[in-house]
Amino acid sequence: MQTLTLTRPDDWHIHLRDGDYLPTTVGDVARSFGRAIVMPNLTPPVTTVPQALAYRDEILLNRPTGSDFEPLMTLYLTDQTRLRDIIEAAQSPQVHACKLYPAGATTNSEAGVGSIEGLYPIFEAMAQHQLPLLIHGEVTDAKIDIFDREKIFIDQCLMPIIARFPELKIVFEHITTQEAASFVAAQSANVAATITAHHLLYHRTDMLSGGMKPILFCLPILKRDIHQAALIRSATSGDPSFFLGTDSAPHPRSRKEDACGCAAGCYTAHAAIELYAEAFEQAGKLDYLEGFASHFGADFYGLPRHSDTITLEAVPWVPPIALPFGRDELMPLRGGETIKWRLVRPETGS
Ligand code: DOR
Ligand code: ZN
Repeated sequence: MQTLTLTRPDDWHIHLRDGDYLPTTVGDVARSFGRAIVMPNLTPPVTTVPQALAYRDEILLNRPTGSDFEPLMTLYLTDQTRLRDIIEAAQSPQVHACKLYPAGATTNSEAGVGSIEGLYPIFEAMAQHQLPLLIHGEVTDAKIDIFDREKIFIDQCLMPIIARFPELKIVFEHITTQEAASFVAAQSANVAATITAHHLLYHRTDMLSGGMKPILFCLPILKRDIHQAALIRSATSGDPSFFLGTDSAPHPRSRKEDACGCAAGCYTAHAAIELYAEAFEQAGKLDYLEGFASHFGADFYGLPRHSDTITLEAVPWVPPIALPFGRDELMPLRGGETIKWRLVRPETGS
């Protein structure tokens, strides 16, 4: 049987939510990933180190028995973020980055940043302390077409930040366009990007043709196939600027199926590494999965690579159509459909 053994991978961008959603989300990420960068867009957002540490404790309480999964915490930047929040974050071994959401760009971003330039003193401190800046890279002007928002963000916001702070480590999160892919490839080693499994596997026609599929609606929105192809090329190129970040983002079924405005976010944590394996195999580049999933992100964040491994085998399986999600249910990507690769159990060790 065909098997695939990798250094244990990490997820450099995930939404775990809080409260009674944590048993599902933490259980799923801890199946295969050793660590994950945990997004801070809770309600209210995680804006200070004490809040991040309390959230971390809540996550740890929900780890499956025997798991040594490690949540890597982040702070949510606002127009009110203080220099001392940054210094405290830089000094905390548990906090690994700060996340910039332009206000109104996506789920729970209402408290996000109104004036990016107003945060320049914060970026300066982050550069000094080598604290990475994680960016949701979309402009928020309602007049700008939703399919152009990432591309325009590069020129309007990202280029000025990089020009002003070349020493700042930046992750352009969940990139979705060929413009973002070629931009990141052309920058110094301080600028990297995460790529989701769903943006490697799907393009906008998959979401819109034959009936709108809320399960594939996320932000930044899926783009046309030429962009998907560019993302596949970048992810499978062996360029260490591109690494795994699922952006797995669960919403209760009622919010995903809301005809008056479906919530943005695809849930992939139940099968993430398996879905990436499928995308890399389709590209004929399975050999490049380990660098992307297990090496480059750790190197960028200055963390050790794992010393244990996981193994996948080519045994098709079908995830459930719905998963328990607190008192709600959650519709995972590919629920009820076949996935080729399966994680070999036991899942917590090599
Ligand atoms: O689709 C998305 N969902 N994109 C984001 O940026 C946020 C995320 C969420 O928190 O649901
Ligand atoms: Zn996200």
